[in-house]
Amino acid sequence: MCGIFGVITNQEDISIGKIALEAIKRLEYRGYDSCGIVTNYNGELFIKKDSGKIDEIHKRLKLDDFPEGSKIALAHTRWATHGAPTKINSHPHLDCSNKIAVVHNGIIENFMELRNELRAKGHIFQSETDTEIIPHLIEEFMSTGLDLKTAILESVRKCTGAYGIVVCHTDYPDCIIVVRKESPLVVGIDNGATYCASDIPAFLPLTRQCYILDDDEMAILRPGGAKFFDVKTNDEVSKNLIQIDWNIDAAEKGGYPHFMLKEIHEEPDALRRTLKVPEEDIKAFAEAILSADNIYITAAGTSFYASLAGKFIITKFLGKYLQAIECSEFKTQLSNALPDNSAIIAISQSGETVDTIEAIRWAKNAANVKILSITNIVGSSMTRYSDHVIVTRAGPEIGVAATKTYVTQVLILALIGLKIATMKGVESEDEINEYCRALRKTPDIIENFLSKDIDLIQNIVKNLEKSHNFFFLARGISIATAKEGGLKLKEIACRFIEGYSAAHAKHGPISLVRDGFPIIFIAPPDGTYERLIGNVMEFKARGGKIISLVVEEDKKVTDLSDVTIRIDQPANKYYNLLSPITFIPALQLLAYYYSVAVGLDPDKPQNLAKTVTVH
Ligand code: AGP
Repeated sequence: MCGIFGVITNQEDISIGKIALEAIKRLEYRGYDSCGIVTNYNGELFIKKDSGKIDEIHKRLKLDDFPEGSKIALAHTRWATHGAPTKINSHPHLDCSNKIAVVHNGIIENFMELRNELRAKGHIFQSETDTEIIPHLIEEFMSTGLDLKTAILESVRKCTGAYGIVVCHTDYPDCIIVVRKESPLVVGIDNGATYCASDIPAFLPLTRQCYILDDDEMAILRPGGAKFFDVKTNDEVSKNLIQIDWNIDAAEKGGYPHFMLKEIHEEPDALRRTLKVPEEDIKAFAEAILSADNIYITAAGTSFYASLAGKFIITKFLGKYLQAIECSEFKTQLSNALPDNSAIIAISQSGETVDTIEAIRWAKNAANVKILSITNIVGSSMTRYSDHVIVTRAGPEIGVAATKTYVTQVLILALIGLKIATMKGVESEDEINEYCRALRKTPDIIENFLSKDIDLIQNIVKNLEKSHNFFFLARGISIATAKEGGLKLKEIACRFIEGYSAAHAKHGPISLVRDGFPIIFIAPPDGTYERLIGNVMEFKARGGKIISLVVEEDKKVTDLSDVTIRIDQPANKYYNLLSPITFIPALQLLAYYYSVAVGLDPDKPQNLAKTVTVH
């Protein structure tokens, strides 16, 4: 999520500040809310950092202007996870002695307890970030006599979570040290200079020779070279130097042709990170929902379809119906009917959708309510009107079409539903454990699908690309999947789709079906399955081309289908309830490849913006 960069060089006639500034400019595409640069020169750290966009900060602080002769710099673009996007929370972060500077990408899960331990030893913290515990940990270990490398090893061994860190120390002007665990880190080798970054684009114009760090690896960078070590054993490891042949555009997309495809493939890791959202955040939502007399859920677009899936899950366990109202209609529909003691779940990946913000602001003034917000952006506008906030950990989503943010939103709503089930005691512990186990398996199910079914999707597109109108039909919770899958094809492939109730389609829409009319049925084997078979037969009888999305062992719907997409998950109620997460990547990919097949740019759909800030 954050962008990190480091450089150590013995090259002459260079501006280290300029190298660092240009590097983080090349990381801007990742999305960020603040940035900073630090150089290590003559036993002193020189720091320039602030919240805002790089160009604005550069105008104010001259980010390329550092002491002549500096040969080491660390730089950072921050995507806030812990602590609002402010100057004090921007990187780098220092120890008490101002000798150690650290930039970090990732999340230190146990930072609160480590911070308390360090505070008890007299360490003073400036920021709200998890990152700031790292320089203080290193300082603490060095105070026991350890050298920099060993102190860093001991420090990261105490941390749980994900990190890519770059460290410099004023007493060690001949090196910078990096460590990787889950958050990517690459090392670039140049003549007389060595670079490190969270992403290859940062140094691609400077060198195409690089090493990719693996998890639990450390590298000590010196001008023009690096040594690698296993964090667990401290053994030196040898790494293969690789040649990068991407151009800068491909490098920003990690080698994928479009951000949207990259972000679909990031869904397993986005879900794994979001599964680690703090338990107390989930509990706070559950408590607010349980104590409310009425519960509403509101959002726009894809977030609204996530809310439909979440509404179904939470209603099932809460035993009280959640009312889903599109944010643009919230005030109008409820006008003078919003009762006191209501809870309103508001979902917005950007946290800036003006209709969603208006809905919760109006509600706050209209009645005594609790606003429970789910967003992907720390410190976004909607959080300012919220009583509780959960931040999904999808990371920056550059493609206009929401993909990984959708699956993480549904996952959060499922976690809330299961917490309610536990608190209400409506399910046995064994049942809850089965649901939780299934939830933890969703990343693997998606990863498995993405690893083997791309050709199938591309072949389906080849057979469909002449079609201009589609039905996406389903029953129960899968109506959310039908609507979201349909929105994707609408948005980026400019095709007209009705994402609809399969039962309700009999009341008129079915009249549209002619020979070859493509209908995609979303058919997990849940309680609606048997009736859905009847719907499939109705559309088949009228000439519809039946494409079905089913589980691996499906038979009945498969036998009625012209084309079948199979999701390899168990055919049971635990996974059925989570099918909005595991089934949607197939429809996202269908939309993506369709868009490419008809010559459109999936990342920049016509007439659309990533965030709608007008009513
Ligand atoms: C989804 O692919 C679209 N980009 C759009 O419908 C989006 O979901 C909607 O504008 C809501 O955005 P938000 O989640 O940032 O509030």
